Amino acid sequence: MILLNGSNAGELGDSIARKLGIKSFENEVKHFPDNELYVKLGADVSGEEVIIVQNTALTPSESLFELFITARTARELGAEKIVLIVPYLAYMRQDKRFNEGEVVTAYQMAFLINNSGADELITIDPHLHRIKELSEVFSIKSTRVTAIKDIAEYVKSLGLNNPVIIGPDEESDQWAGEVAKLLGLSFEIYNKIRSSSVNVSVKGSYSVLKGKDVVIVDDIISTGGTMLNAAIKIKEAGADSVHAVTTHGLFLRNVEELESVFDSIASCNTVTTKFTKIDLAGTIAGAL
Ligand code: R5P
Repeated sequence: MILLNGSNAGELGDSIARKLGIKSFENEVKHFPDNELYVKLGADVSGEEVIIVQNTALTPSESLFELFITARTARELGAEKIVLIVPYLAYMRQDKRFNEGEVVTAYQMAFLINNSGADELITIDPHLHRIKELSEVFSIKSTRVTAIKDIAEYVKSLGLNNPVIIGPDEESDQWAGEVAKLLGLSFEIYNKIRSSSVNVSVKGSYSVLKGKDVVIVDDIISTGGTMLNAAIKIKEAGADSVHAVTTHGLFLRNVEELESVFDSIASCNTVTTKFTKIDLAGTIAGAL
């Protein structure tokens, strides 16, 4: 078994390889002057069971296409089995056609992966909302690994006096609710109203949070708007402290504002930023 790192694998690919005790190789990925991709596999894959690690965070289209052509080439060159590890699976959030003519990207992204020649996809806490199971979009074997236990351990390590868990919107129940149950903490799932892709209002019973150490748990921090909106109201309600924990921290906007409101911010290493504190390599390796 060998592991190939795509250009967006970050450090996670090598960590997974270390946990599995196998060799990892870097694919050579460049651009031609016209911006077309050049990819050369980092190792001979013939007859091998090949794990390809490629994230689709931050550069979703480019990274997805690189993954597609890499997997297809591994198959073409005789790989015996191909497992894709895509820590952050982009395009899952566009899961419904709200207006006639809109692309439902979850299905189109899955079409590429289904036809990449790979045998299996492993991903971490994919955004499952209107699509409930990965098998609704993937025809190849698809495995959802969750960071819930790792997040729960991290929350415990904060050593908070009066912890309470908040999920900022209905679908966060599957993360925030589960983390709270694992730790035996009380929790509430709030309601989010999104008036545009960046304008959100998180509604809930803030007043009960006075004197509490509040941990908001969500699957993704993208623009940070959701976390920020909730945290400002939590602080105004008189909470002692407020902490943000997420699986996938993209942190595309509002970083200074988030840092000024939150007492701590943590994300898993599916995406590497200055807030990356929770290592999922062991959990992912355990799914193989
Ligand atoms: C979607 O509802 C997700 O669960 C997150 O709440 C959302 O992606 C966060 O986005 P943002 O950081 O842009 O508010």
